Amino acid sequence: MKRKLLSVMLIAAMTAALTACGGSSSSSSTEEASTEAAEESTDDGEEAASTESGGQKVGISMPTQSLERWNRDGAYLDEQFQSAGYETVLTYSDNDTEQQVNDIQNMLADGVDLLIVAAIDGETMNTCMNEAAEAGVPVIAYDRLIMNDAVSYYVSFDNYTVGTLQGQFIVETLDLDNAGDTVYNMEITAGDPADNNAGYFYQGEIDVLQPYMDAGTLNVVSGQTDFDTVATDGWSTDTALERAQNVLASYYADGTQLDVWLCSNDSTALGVAQAVTSDYAGSNSVLITGQDGDEANLANIVDGVQTMTVYKNVSNESIVTLSLAQAILNGETIDESLIDSFGIDCAYDTESYETSDGNKCPSFLLVPSVITVDNLEELVDTGLYEMGDDGYLKAVQ
Ligand code: BGC
Repeated sequence: MKRKLLSVMLIAAMTAALTACGGSSSSSSTEEASTEAAEESTDDGEEAASTESGGQKVGISMPTQSLERWNRDGAYLDEQFQSAGYETVLTYSDNDTEQQVNDIQNMLADGVDLLIVAAIDGETMNTCMNEAAEAGVPVIAYDRLIMNDAVSYYVSFDNYTVGTLQGQFIVETLDLDNAGDTVYNMEITAGDPADNNAGYFYQGEIDVLQPYMDAGTLNVVSGQTDFDTVATDGWSTDTALERAQNVLASYYADGTQLDVWLCSNDSTALGVAQAVTSDYAGSNSVLITGQDGDEANLANIVDGVQTMTVYKNVSNESIVTLSLAQAILNGETIDESLIDSFGIDCAYDTESYETSDGNKCPSFLLVPSVITVDNLEELVDTGLYEMGDDGYLKAVQ
């Protein structure tokens, strides 16, 4: 029953995606998983999806519009929930933690039945999270965990795996296991320390690469390896650019060859790629990693300026979130079997994440994948991108 209802909702979402959208959402599109799920059952006359939601209201709090992916997340979530018959309130908080707390307090005052929050800072949400708990409003931590037990569930990608995919890509591309005496020079740029994910990405990367650093096969010329030193406040492209320029000026201006710049995500990779393009004296191409599949970075991959990105299908993340929210609001039992209803590659993990010491947060973790120039066109199959005449992928509007 649940599976059929979800399918109807997904069809509604797809229909809405094909027509112009108003309100606070921008636009969305179909993607493989939703298409498959929808195709599975269109056989009988289910009730309209909107009747199940009973006019409930969902607050969607996104961190900022200045980083590309959150615009997509916000739009997909807004559209998924509206298409399923929910009223939505969508806010972006300009990467300002106080504003996000305010935005959430306003949602609670507005009587939302459920909150979906991608936190700017997972540690500074106690005021509004406690208020949500007092009001009995369930909270789904979206993509980034919040350190407060008011959080009922966490939906994200497997953050640690994102880091290991980046590390393994470097190992395989440079064939580090057969490097012999060759030494590859590397620099590292990590994410925002306020974002709980950033440490997971970094740890995944380092766990794969540390043995090669210890063996001297990978040499971080600047010596800057610890998370706090290589972190990037707010995941800012400009901050990453500035630090990369400083590192290049201080350690590579003498002609030292740079082989790899490990970047935790696309917004930082954008800054690093810019610095390498304008400030690096060498003529070799530098392997640069990323994460997300932002349009500008996909263009850089086509141009050979960035080497790979760990792609996260955030449309699927919004589908998983809708499914979970419906189960919560309908008082259903939530466990691994929920995954069957949305048919997206995802793990139910009750061990890896804690909202406070010892308090595990049940998590639905989607699976990221590696995109390079060789398989970039596969993104078109998701329905979320189209290939432009200029050879660059564009997000479908
Ligand atoms: C997300 C990444 C994103 C970064 C900056 C992280 O929390 O998981 O996908 O690149 O924030 O927006």
